[in-house]
Amino acid sequence: MRRVLVIMLAAVLAFAVDPVPRPVAEPHRQHTITYDRYSLMIDGRREWLWSAEFHYFRLPSQDLWRDQLEKLKATGFTAVSLYFSWAYHSPAPGVYDFTGVRDVDRLLDIAEDVGLYVIARPGPYINAEADAGGYPAWLTTQRGRARTNADDYQAAWEDWYDHVNAIIRRHQLTDGGGSVVLYQIENEYDGSDAVYMEELKAAAKADGITVPLFHNDKGRNLRWASGPGAPELYGTDTYPAGFDCNRTSFPAVTDYRFLRPGVGDRPFIWGEFQGGAFDPWGGPGYGRCRNMTGPAFERMFYDNNIENQFTVHNIYMAYGGTNWGWQADPNVVYTSYDYGAAFTEQRQLTEKVPVLKQQAYLLASVGDLRKTDDLGQQAGTDPAVRVWVKQNPDTGSRFYFVRHQDATSAAPVSTTFTTGDYTPTVALTGRDFKILAADYDMARQRLVYSTSEIMAHVNLGDRDVALLHGRTGEQGETVLRYSSEPRVEVVAGDVTSSWNGRDLHLTYVHNGLTRVRIHGGGRPPLELLLADSDTASTFWRVDTKAGPILARGPYLVRTAERRGSSLLLRGDADQASPLEVFAPKQVRTVYWNGHRVRGGSVPGPDPVTFPELTNWRYTEDTPEADPAFDDSRWVAADHLTTDNPTQPATLPVLYTDDYGFHYGDVWYRGHFTGAGKQIALTAGTGRAGVWTVWLNGANLGTVNTGTASGNQNSTGTFDIPDGLLREDNVISVLVRNMGHNENGGSNDNHKRPRGLLAATVAAPDGTATPVTWRIQGGRTDQLRGPMNNGGLHGERAGYPLPDFRPTGWDTVTLPHNDTTPGVAWYRTKVRLDLPKDQDVPVGLRFTDDPGRHYRVLIFVNGWQVGQYVNDLGPQRVFTLPQGILRHQGENTIALAVWSTDSTTGGLGEVSLTAQGNYTTPTR
Ligand code: GAL
Repeated sequence: MRRVLVIMLAAVLAFAVDPVPRPVAEPHRQHTITYDRYSLMIDGRREWLWSAEFHYFRLPSQDLWRDQLEKLKATGFTAVSLYFSWAYHSPAPGVYDFTGVRDVDRLLDIAEDVGLYVIARPGPYINAEADAGGYPAWLTTQRGRARTNADDYQAAWEDWYDHVNAIIRRHQLTDGGGSVVLYQIENEYDGSDAVYMEELKAAAKADGITVPLFHNDKGRNLRWASGPGAPELYGTDTYPAGFDCNRTSFPAVTDYRFLRPGVGDRPFIWGEFQGGAFDPWGGPGYGRCRNMTGPAFERMFYDNNIENQFTVHNIYMAYGGTNWGWQADPNVVYTSYDYGAAFTEQRQLTEKVPVLKQQAYLLASVGDLRKTDDLGQQAGTDPAVRVWVKQNPDTGSRFYFVRHQDATSAAPVSTTFTTGDYTPTVALTGRDFKILAADYDMARQRLVYSTSEIMAHVNLGDRDVALLHGRTGEQGETVLRYSSEPRVEVVAGDVTSSWNGRDLHLTYVHNGLTRVRIHGGGRPPLELLLADSDTASTFWRVDTKAGPILARGPYLVRTAERRGSSLLLRGDADQASPLEVFAPKQVRTVYWNGHRVRGGSVPGPDPVTFPELTNWRYTEDTPEADPAFDDSRWVAADHLTTDNPTQPATLPVLYTDDYGFHYGDVWYRGHFTGAGKQIALTAGTGRAGVWTVWLNGANLGTVNTGTASGNQNSTGTFDIPDGLLREDNVISVLVRNMGHNENGGSNDNHKRPRGLLAATVAAPDGTATPVTWRIQGGRTDQLRGPMNNGGLHGERAGYPLPDFRPTGWDTVTLPHNDTTPGVAWYRTKVRLDLPKDQDVPVGLRFTDDPGRHYRVLIFVNGWQVGQYVNDLGPQRVFTLPQGILRHQGENTIALAVWSTDSTTGGLGEVSLTAQGNYTTPTR
């Protein structure tokens, strides 16, 4: 395919080709995807899929998809793994939306264009800490058991498959339409229905899926690895650090070779390997998750995966994003799905990127790693160090995987190892892992061995450039073979060189950037860059059609394009930054985002400021509590039966999903006449939910479900105050449905009911007084989708929408106190004029005493971007994605505040804040 083109181009440009072209298909060219025990092969060429999990449904902006995918590509990822959320596309049975922020056809085009392979994971069940595990909430009312071959469930998922596969099919590498290379059926299926798995396989194939199918086995149990129900390939997952981000101890790495007999002649696939963790309501916050799975974790675990030959290696998550709308499974996560991932929710690079880059660039540069056999452990001088040797059987190159024997140990150690005639020493400072190469053809050089790790090497035609690294202050030694003594020119740093008639020995200390030029010796020139690991990560390895080049300095280098003697770079800078380019010598002029680079540096961003949020308009808005409110057009809640596996304790059935209201807030009004002494209610809200009760307009109280793990329901008993009853009485109840459970255990847990679960009005004599109920909830917003809105009066009346006019509302300043329990809306407009060529991730910050009891639904230009719970946290800054937020123009911010007591409600200070500021290309 593309390789042919690349070879032709290379011939024209008269310099050699790097073996790693962009994995982009030309239209209508077919490709083969084969595999063996080592790796996938595309048109016979081995690939290491270094993949990043990315959820488009957690980033509602097409342009930001491209931004983030380009960042993944620049960081060295070769693939992106996409769950497809059925719920996100289907508001009702048979109804699908694949437009706008749901346009996955466009997403797959972007992935291909950026040069990323795609692992498609359309479920039907995805888990993902998503509401109902990605099932549309209407599926919760099905009678048949989900994740089995039950007829109603099967009819529903087949329809989903037919619709989503019609899109995925068009983008398969096999058929030449795009870059989809693998397709996952189901996810962590721990049920036992092989017929169901067979049906999924058959449906995918019938829908035209021609790339290999695999499954992601929960926890390395070789489930669905063979036998009935097993797809072609076996994938599995693991989260060795777990999900409690308070954790400070370090888990040990595992040897996964025990999987080999079960996996057989197929490659090892991590459908998911931990890249962070989710954080629950009231949790420690994502900073802790990022620490827990930080650089030391990445180094130990991902290097171990490389040693274990996981040539499909998907990091979950690489970018987490936002549970905007009602997308979260409330039991495990709040609005932010930042995940402590390598990239923040705001698409920023974190301290986790540098190690990932080193690993990804190593795998991209050193193709020999894609096929290696275990030679076994080598005894060194220090038994505390484990040296494991692997070899490429075709080229003979060897790789030494060096780490602490006890992978949890932080003690500094060093050992010798043997390679050929040599016995070099390698040191590990603290908890560390190194992958060292020997007898390896490094571009056009011969590396005898190095105790520094290879980060990248490129063949630039006139010379080779190799970038090697080690931790700051560590000794390094690199030995290269020549037919005659070469000339060594130390351009920067201290290097000792010696020649023994065959090999050139270089010794040095890793500190900043040491530069050596080696000429002669029967080989093309070599520019050898010996860096400390932090400095190494300031390099970017960027593909061009004629092979990769290196660039160094700015925050991010996205793409490079050769045009004659010009090199066009696109990238981002967080400050004025030096830029150094390692490109073929024919390159004389460098452009950065369309501007010629002069003086070897690129400009930083202009500072930005935000207007204060003022001129807040305010209205109390709980008309449903008023006994005179007209609910005659509401739906009568009068069902006497339900298909839900949890049968109601009282009738009628009041489950909100049974009446077609699936997301967010739901109102109930119960009418009764005659006697009443006490009202007893149970509500299903999911973790951290809340509900408030009124009788004849008088507030009776609020119940919090709480944050204890497993809490989903809560009960309240309210004595009816003397004098409140009339002839006709109305109970008004507002219940916040925080979202549905996942169904990870294949036990229909997603059907656990929401809304009122039981309701009794007891007369003084203890008998139950009959109550007639009506229910009102959210409707699907055609543009923003089914999960954008619940049933608050203001949502039904369009308060969040930009063109709504708050006529008659008060004007207030923040902070503002409110002593009326119930809902109030605060609304303002703000005009932004941020520079077009800067990426300014904007957040909305709430500042208040957490002792005040209220929570806020946040709407920006009508889009519900999150829920703030003042007395819970931990999230106090909310991402406002560009696209939803107009960076040049007017924005409407509408906040639905639910005050839950009569003393501490209201709203604290609210402000816009820049979470970063970068120059960025405008296309
Ligand atoms: C896996 C699951 C993912 C996600 C992850 C934790 O078990 O396949 O969907 O839930 O755990 O973030």
